[in-house]
Amino acid sequence: MRAVAAFPDEKKLRLIDHPAPEIEAPTEVLLRMLEVGVCGTDREIARFDYGTPPAGSPYLVIGHESLAEVLEVGAGVSDVKPGDLVVTMVRRPCGRADCPACASGRQDFCLTGEFTERGIKGRHGFMTERVVDDQRYLNVVPPSLREVAVLTEPLTIAEKALLQVWDVQDRLPWIAKGGREDLARGHKAVVLGAGPVGLLGCLALLVRGFDTYVYSLEPEGSEKARWVESVGAKYLSSQSCPIADLPSRVGNIDLFYEATGAAKVSFLAMEVLGVNGVFIFTGVPGRKAPIEIDADLIMRNLVLKNQIVYGTVNAGKDAFQAAIADIGEFNRRWPRALRALITGRYAPDAFEGLLTGPLQGIKNVLAFA
Ligand code: BGC
Ligand code: ZN
Repeated sequence: MRAVAAFPDEKKLRLIDHPAPEIEAPTEVLLRMLEVGVCGTDREIARFDYGTPPAGSPYLVIGHESLAEVLEVGAGVSDVKPGDLVVTMVRRPCGRADCPACASGRQDFCLTGEFTERGIKGRHGFMTERVVDDQRYLNVVPPSLREVAVLTEPLTIAEKALLQVWDVQDRLPWIAKGGREDLARGHKAVVLGAGPVGLLGCLALLVRGFDTYVYSLEPEGSEKARWVESVGAKYLSSQSCPIADLPSRVGNIDLFYEATGAAKVSFLAMEVLGVNGVFIFTGVPGRKAPIEIDADLIMRNLVLKNQIVYGTVNAGKDAFQAAIADIGEFNRRWPRALRALITGRYAPDAFEGLLTGPLQGIKNVLAFA
């Protein structure tokens, strides 16, 4: 069967003929891949800056943002049935006895670093026709979301980040436990970056009731800016609003959701984080020369303004479930804007341009069926 593969030793990307997988254990499921999103991580793997093939394989089948249909189930499968639409999780446990995170099904918090990730690290991914996986990594999606469910995996980044916001802000004693609306309503969130992770994060913040801003490079009035305004968020362009002006435009910034992968802009933004604010990093910058930041100011603010900074990677089952519920909610509230996030659907042989060509649009998708 066809698969898009990266050969790191040769520095080549190819559409290859890859052996079709079969069900080998009772809890396994055979999937027909429908759609696979292309993301920044895939493009890094395609530049050979990231990504590791499975042990003994010269190549890695890439792709980790998927939507599939269940074709066949093993004898012990009870969670899914043939015909179901599913989105597959990305990370697999390290399997070491001394890793309580993986042992409890939370490999997104793996302590040893020996986890694998489908399509990224040590395990083949989803840019292919058939995939076998254990039922525990599958998340059923309602058929009504067929057109947009490929956005689930990139949304899980925001979902995991936001699940943690409530835990973090439970420290504020006047906010009743579970009073999540109070934590969001009237509170200001600024998304840094208007790629798929940022725009999906924007929708997730809006659904929770945050007064949401998106700050990005594109000028005011651009297509991105209009998209942001169409969903009820506010757009601020770095071309007309320097970062230092954000507090005067926004007010006390309660939350930053970083989705740029750019360190300089992120640390400048950290300087203007508000009182009791939370700064969430999701980007993974390539290593470059060190940059200058105003560390005294940032440290003073962290202390004197009770701020919290955290990073978040990958996602657990809870975040996948939350993402599927949110995609449903986005689909009710903003059906057109949600669809507009998917720039194009292409046949697998368009892989090269999408992975190595100039960035085009928002989310591009390879359709395998
Ligand atoms: C994926 C995550 C993964 C991370 C680091 C992201 O693009 O969405 O699942 O953990 O890359 O490899
Ligand atoms: Zn990704």
